[in-house]
Amino acid sequence: MKFKSKALLAVLFCTMASVSAFAQKFEELAQTPPMGWNSWNTFQTKIDEPLLKGMVDTYLSSGMKDAGYTYFVLDDGWMTMERDKDGNLVADPQKFPNGMKAFADYVHSKGLKFGIYNCAGTKTCAGYPGTRGYEYQDARLYASWGVDYLKFDWCNSEGINAKEAYATMAKAIRAAGRPMIFSLCEWGQHQPWKWAAKDGQLWRSTGDIGNAFEETVAKDGWKPLSVLNILDRQDSIRQYAGPGHWNDPDMLEVGNGMKYNEDKAHFSLWCMLAAPLMAGNDLRKMSEQTTSILTNKELISIDQDALGVECFKYYSFDGIEIFVKPLANNELAVCFLNRSNRPQIVSFDWKAHIISDAITKTNIDFNQATYKLHDIWAKKDIGSTDKLFKQTIGSDDVVVLRLTK
Ligand code: GLA
Repeated sequence: MKFKSKALLAVLFCTMASVSAFAQKFEELAQTPPMGWNSWNTFQTKIDEPLLKGMVDTYLSSGMKDAGYTYFVLDDGWMTMERDKDGNLVADPQKFPNGMKAFADYVHSKGLKFGIYNCAGTKTCAGYPGTRGYEYQDARLYASWGVDYLKFDWCNSEGINAKEAYATMAKAIRAAGRPMIFSLCEWGQHQPWKWAAKDGQLWRSTGDIGNAFEETVAKDGWKPLSVLNILDRQDSIRQYAGPGHWNDPDMLEVGNGMKYNEDKAHFSLWCMLAAPLMAGNDLRKMSEQTTSILTNKELISIDQDALGVECFKYYSFDGIEIFVKPLANNELAVCFLNRSNRPQIVSFDWKAHIISDAITKTNIDFNQATYKLHDIWAKKDIGSTDKLFKQTIGSDDVVVLRLTK
């Protein structure tokens, strides 16, 4: 009897230990890269309830929700400069006169999910109260508001261990009991792709994106990364992404001032990368072109493909790069990027190439298998891999093909 209860105790202990060791995140979330909108890229800290309600409304009327975008995320700048006397964060009453719960309810009433931002350090990047030392309290507050997504930044984190700080917040979210996507925003400084999959659903792989395709302009002594700068840092970490855990090359700059071809290329490349798709433009003032890019369902289906693998760079010569993304059901997406400063005629003889990828065990010899080609941006079928692909591609532009048997 004595032995039996000891055994029971041991089983119980093991079960508890394994729950606390493994149940760090809500596993079922983000099986495909999360899609949504975030306030930062356009508004920085200048956000308030009327503006954001307008954004929620156009999220629906513009077709973003129908295209698959789900999350509505407030970035930095939503709180007061100090916690209240009980140590709770407070939504800025000037910006959110009805409080954050009421705003979250509004987002939910439209069938969207609600996200919020804070920071692992003592203060956020914009100087508002950070979460350090308040992890469990803040997670409980977010859960009580109905938060579904937390972006967690890395400013003012001197002396903190990144792995531990993010694991603590992940545990706090878990303990608060409400399923939330946990988006680590540590800018890739401590190689989160190697350790963060147990904590969160996505982690930033680089510093901040700026609104430029090739090269950004420095402002106040600081220079964000361009679309191409970020692209070039993704190839070596593709093996770390997959369903439920994604590399995050940062939010979209589509509709924020780049040329049409650049926006189109940026969006295509992010879809090829299986990137989280967080629009960052003013949805209320979206042009038809911007809408047509952000809601391109064929591109989105490449991003959201169930296999959940990132593209790899297959070929690079004279400013032409070819990216290949294996898709479910033995399909493929192929993106031809012209990053040179002149239009180029690209001709590609499928039969002269064998496309292989160790991660997905893809090995395609086009002499053995013929694929049909669909040009996604031109919205037309363009024959098969039995004949040469030949097209002129403009500078900083792409052609994206879907290959099916
Ligand atoms: C950092 C993040 C950005 C944004 C700002 C907010 O720079 O990387 O995405 O959240 O902070 O201050």
